[in-house]
Amino acid sequence: MAASLFLARRSLRLPFPRIVRTSKWCGVPALGVHTTAGRMNTNQQDFEKSQNDLKILKKDPGNDIKLKLYALFKQATQGSCNTPKPGMLDFVNKAKWDAWNSLGSLSKDEARKSYVELVNNLVSSEAPLKDSASLSTREQYDTLQVVSEDNITKIFLNRPEKKNAITLQMYEEIGLALDEAAKDDSVITVLTGYGDYFCSGNDLNNFTSIPPEGKEKMARDSAVILQAFVRKFIDFPKPLIAVINGPAVGISVTILGLFDLVYATDRATFHTPFSQLGQSPEGCSSYTFPRIMGLSKAVEVLLFNKLLTAHEACKLGLVTEVFTDGTFQKEVWERLRAFGELPKNSLAFSKQLIRETEKEKLHAVNVQECERLRERWLSEECMNAIIRFFQKKAKL
Ligand code: COA
Repeated sequence: MAASLFLARRSLRLPFPRIVRTSKWCGVPALGVHTTAGRMNTNQQDFEKSQNDLKILKKDPGNDIKLKLYALFKQATQGSCNTPKPGMLDFVNKAKWDAWNSLGSLSKDEARKSYVELVNNLVSSEAPLKDSASLSTREQYDTLQVVSEDNITKIFLNRPEKKNAITLQMYEEIGLALDEAAKDDSVITVLTGYGDYFCSGNDLNNFTSIPPEGKEKMARDSAVILQAFVRKFIDFPKPLIAVINGPAVGISVTILGLFDLVYATDRATFHTPFSQLGQSPEGCSSYTFPRIMGLSKAVEVLLFNKLLTAHEACKLGLVTEVFTDGTFQKEVWERLRAFGELPKNSLAFSKQLIRETEKEKLHAVNVQECERLRERWLSEECMNAIIRFFQKKAKL
């Protein structure tokens, strides 16, 4: 990524509530939007409602989404971008101008519609947080939000400001949440993320806190945690569904071969940059990926860092179905609510029949992959790659 864009994005990182409550970003009626008749009026009402809905969002949707909202709002109220391009060093305003300008000649009506869809999407992704008689939220997690609703246990990765990178604590909490979901009354279990990323993979800080006993212990302990984490997915007894709300990196991609369904927004990408990091595949992907997508495609992805778009991943069989980002949350949760009505035991037994024959093999692959990673984490190749990541950050 170009350094300038990186900087621009970083400068945009303001506390979310402040951003959503200012008309500068999402617009308020005070900006004086015209209304005409008929359908336009309805649109206008929805548009104004969306501006209010945005103010009550609890989660920061991330800079990419905030820029999109800003651009759609400007287009909906003022039409095509008509202001001079800000200078190269005015990072924030240039990012905003670029976003608005990228909408080209999109009509005000279309922009209003897209704005409303996008906000509805954000609101429904938080729907479980609203009051509901059938809803229970489990409070014991720091890095997750786990909600039971409509016969679905929903596990939300909840570090959006770090792109949901998985810390050691998060590995353990996901394992605990899966243990609970396996035993609760839910029919299906869903893993998804808050914010603009599904997950950026292993938190690279996991490798920087070396215990007094040395890096060998760090590598040994991490391998034990990873192996236990993957084991939970292999053994999970009910249908397990991934709702991929944005880009996915590393282990959040490799683990997908152990899910029963994978639904993705068309904004998602799938990337496993292991060789760039001096590491090797995990999550049983060295076995599941060649089976799912064929050997040569799996080699491109796992060895040669090929980034897949959502549609490419769907074509290769890693993703079940791709949805338009604007209506992703609404469509997917509607579908999942219908699955939640199906007979619980029938689904669980059918899943177990499909998966049983593979289980022993998967456990063996998991052990081998973690053993290889234990060695990789101690390698010079891996240490140098992680130092490079943090040096790059420090320079910015
Ligand atoms: N480990 C540790 N921190 C991470 C992280 C990860 N895997 N992914 C994101 N973060 C942190 C960033 O360091 C940044 O922290 P800061 O706000 O304290 O500076 C914050 O999350 C936001 O990420 P940023 O890099 O500013 O966002 P971006 O949109 O420019 O880029 C990524 C997003 C995911 C492309 C980029 O963060 C990245 O390359 N992360 C590493 C991914 C990776 O290699 N994962 C391991 C795979 S095995």
